Amino acid sequence: MNNIFVEAEQIKAQLEIADKLNNKTDKKVCILTFGCQQNEADSEILSGICEKAGYGETDDPKEADLILINTCAIREHAELKALSRTGQFKKLKEQNKELLIGVCGCMAEQKERREALMKSYPYVDFVFGTDKLYMLPQIIRNAKTAKKRSVYISDLPHNEFGVIAEGLPLRRNSSHKAKVSIMYGCDNFCTYCVVPYVRGRERSRESGKILAEVENLVMRGYGDIMLLGQNVNSYKGDISFPKLLERAGSFNGEYFLRFMTSHPKDASRELFEVIRDVPNVAKQFHLPVQSGNNRVLSAMNRRYSREKYLEKALEIKSLVPGITMTTDIICGFPTETEKEFLETVDIIKQVEFDMIFTFLYSPRPGTPAAKMEDQIPHEEKVRRFELLSSVQNDIADKLNDKYVGKTVRVLCDSNENGMCSGRTSGNKIVNFEGNAMVGTFADVEITSAAAYILKGRERG
Ligand code: 5AD
Ligand code: SF4
Repeated sequence: MNNIFVEAEQIKAQLEIADKLNNKTDKKVCILTFGCQQNEADSEILSGICEKAGYGETDDPKEADLILINTCAIREHAELKALSRTGQFKKLKEQNKELLIGVCGCMAEQKERREALMKSYPYVDFVFGTDKLYMLPQIIRNAKTAKKRSVYISDLPHNEFGVIAEGLPLRRNSSHKAKVSIMYGCDNFCTYCVVPYVRGRERSRESGKILAEVENLVMRGYGDIMLLGQNVNSYKGDISFPKLLERAGSFNGEYFLRFMTSHPKDASRELFEVIRDVPNVAKQFHLPVQSGNNRVLSAMNRRYSREKYLEKALEIKSLVPGITMTTDIICGFPTETEKEFLETVDIIKQVEFDMIFTFLYSPRPGTPAAKMEDQIPHEEKVRRFELLSSVQNDIADKLNDKYVGKTVRVLCDSNENGMCSGRTSGNKIVNFEGNAMVGTFADVEITSAAAYILKGRERG
């Protein structure tokens, strides 16, 4: 087995290159991020490295000396968005030959995508994989000096390994909300999913490093901290995930400690008790079900049954009354019949989720489900999607009604002339009148509710 940790010497060498690149003022990087929170966290590292190399940050590609496009491959739609954005930079490159354009993230890890990208977008200077982030200084230096296009991808088939690079600089894009990666990759190989192929095998950071990062954030006043991983609860560092969560939630100070995302097979009673017993651990649980039918779950390789899922979801709801439950659902997985789909509708009704994230099944090249016969027509996927949404809206409406008249603790995200918005421990959005400062907590009395928004006023 490879040593998964990138040697400290290698990181140091990269940071020295970054320092040498830091020789001109007024340079700017524009980073475009597609996809999940893992990509957002990666972009904060890219930004941190760029800062060390002397790049300020801009949202406007026209102002940039360096454009980085951090792509997602989870569904075709995400890929098309990134490609269409990349296509818009042709003109900029024609106007400014010194402009550097790089593509990274999950699309870069797929051989066919990468090759097509290099061919169709000749103004892209470099492409690098999800485990080559730490090499960005060298990649930029080469692009500036060698003047030839390059690709940086691990030379072993990517799904055999992955790396962890500690000690890289970070430029966080919020001063009160932070993401802390605790593990990377995925070993589950759900048959629809591209993640194991583009993010490599599961690997976990050491608990000491994670806890030091969380403690530092708490000391700096971060009120919302999210432990991140493709499968957080299969964290296999030197302590178990429930222990890690308990310790991360026990620093002095008020904060919401969240985690994303979980697999039902690793959702244990011990974890539920930590959510219940540690006040800083947010009263929110995202537990993707994907389907409510056993045959479909098995075809998806989910490794739990409808009954087991229901048992766990109802167990946590009874242990932590009022907990916000959310889930992911795929509509129109190949071979899914109407009758099987209706079992998904039924599980939604039984659990009563606060919110569901519903996705039309998108065939991903190289995954087993993409090769299955009986792909479901697009219009049918949309019909199922709409039915699920309408069932869910009624449930969410009913659940949120219960908040009216109650007082909730809210972390303020914005305040424009007394119209504030923030989130509760359960991650509910609350719009309220008040004078809370961004990043501080407020007690808010809820005066009205809709399916996905609570409204209220700050208590004096
Ligand atoms: N098509 C549609 N949705 C998908 N997801 C993962 N792969 C696919 C796919 N091929 C959804 C799952 C997962 C969420 C992040 O994206 O529901 O939980
Ligand atoms: Fe998209 Fe998955 Fe990559 Fe996240 S890990 S960016 S969801 S493909």
